[in-house]
Amino acid sequence: MNQPFSGFSKLSKEEKINWIAEAYFSTPEQAVSLLKKYWNSDPKIQKLHDEFIENTITNFYIPLGVAPNFLINGKYSTIPMAIEESSVVAAASKAAKFWSTRGGFKTTVINTEKIGQVHFIYQGDVSKLELFFAQTKSKFFADTENITTNMQKRGGGILDIELRDKTNLIDNYYQLHATFETKDSMGANFINSCLEQFANTLKRESQNFELFSETEKDIQVIMSILSNYVPNCIVRAEVSCPVDELEEKHIQNPHDFAERFVQAVQIAEVEPYRAVTHNKGIMNGIDAVIIATGNDFRAVEAGVHAYAARSGQYSSLSHAKIENGIFSFWLEVPLALGTVGGLTSLHPLVKLSLEMLENPSAGELMQFVAVAGLAQNFAALRSLTTSGIQEGHMKMHLNNMLNQLEATDDESLQVRKHFKHHVVSHSGVVNFVENLRK
Ligand code: HMG
Repeated sequence: MNQPFSGFSKLSKEEKINWIAEAYFSTPEQAVSLLKKYWNSDPKIQKLHDEFIENTITNFYIPLGVAPNFLINGKYSTIPMAIEESSVVAAASKAAKFWSTRGGFKTTVINTEKIGQVHFIYQGDVSKLELFFAQTKSKFFADTENITTNMQKRGGGILDIELRDKTNLIDNYYQLHATFETKDSMGANFINSCLEQFANTLKRESQNFELFSETEKDIQVIMSILSNYVPNCIVRAEVSCPVDELEEKHIQNPHDFAERFVQAVQIAEVEPYRAVTHNKGIMNGIDAVIIATGNDFRAVEAGVHAYAARSGQYSSLSHAKIENGIFSFWLEVPLALGTVGGLTSLHPLVKLSLEMLENPSAGELMQFVAVAGLAQNFAALRSLTTSGIQEGHMKMHLNNMLNQLEATDDESLQVRKHFKHHVVSHSGVVNFVENLRK
């Protein structure tokens, strides 16, 4: 293939599959058969999935697991997690069980403000632009009333609109920087619709502003789009208990453990190489719940990492301390989530996941997600500062290795029996299976 295929999108699904199979696979029939094996047997469900995206050829499975025993603000929940990486669900479950007997997780939604911007170029006197904005501001609200009426009924809407001078960054660059409350929706469509109307109002009203010269009237809107950076849409999750109560099978000296744990967090606070991996561990938990509940993990990832770098240096999202004999561990993350709209009412497993969480509001979902992130971080740091990560990770990875080796049921049984008492390693498992097969 060294020329573009015009009209690919117009082919039927069957034609697309056949074309792909012929173009890229040495055994096209096998490729077609594999793609079809992953179709849902119910044509209605398959059609639904086909239409989530474009050019769909099959489904790409990610397991949906559950982590039980999460005691959050005094109430037990089971958290759904969609993720392909072994040991994440086990780690979250273990941390949930651990903290359930030590007071559980406490969460607080600190604020829920979303942001959108109209980026534009204005060539002229800034004081005239400021006067224009002050006189026009109410029109931005009036012109978007048809978009905002329902959101206002739910208690949301446009919170404020500011004119921001960004000419220190790019010549003649300004913004309308708007803040929104979008209640239980993530709000992307609502915000973008408002912003596009702001842009129209801006262009129309600038034509009518008498103080503007012809050049000043010629405002160029570059784009209107929400921001996935939401530093004022923050949730906090925390755990704490007396240091003595940290004792369990892997934590024989709780004081030593608590100190090492706090030091591990401090390293992530000051050392970006460590902070990225530390936060990746947090995102193991966060992304898994975000995906299971039909939210946009790319938006959350981008916003969370920007937040982690807000001081100018990338740093840990979580923090820990020991004060007066009390160990505390907490996390604050920006999360713009929705429990209505988008995939939430379309994807059957998203609906099921939300029902498992007792149909939370967006604020409640923020709390589940933050707790999953903190639990995951606790589990990883507990392993890292005690036995090392490989022991538990490889124990959970054993199934993948057995599948890779196409082990029989009997071989799997013997491998599991042997590695109950031996550290799991890839070469160890391969050697053991090879010996069995000799
Ligand atoms: P363990 O102590 O050997 O487990 O831990 P256990 O067999 O004694 O079971 C204790 C509990 O753990 C269970 O209670 C479960 O809650 C859970 P129970 O259900 O029996 O009442 N658990 C499981 N849940 C579901 N399925 C299982 C299972 N096994 C245990 N098969 C464990 C084993 C893996 C949990 C532990 O070693 C651990 O937490 N390890 C950390 C693993 C981890 O963090 N994985 C994330 C991937 S690594 C990574 O990408 C991030 C990293 O780089 C981040 C960073 O650097 O900060 C590490």
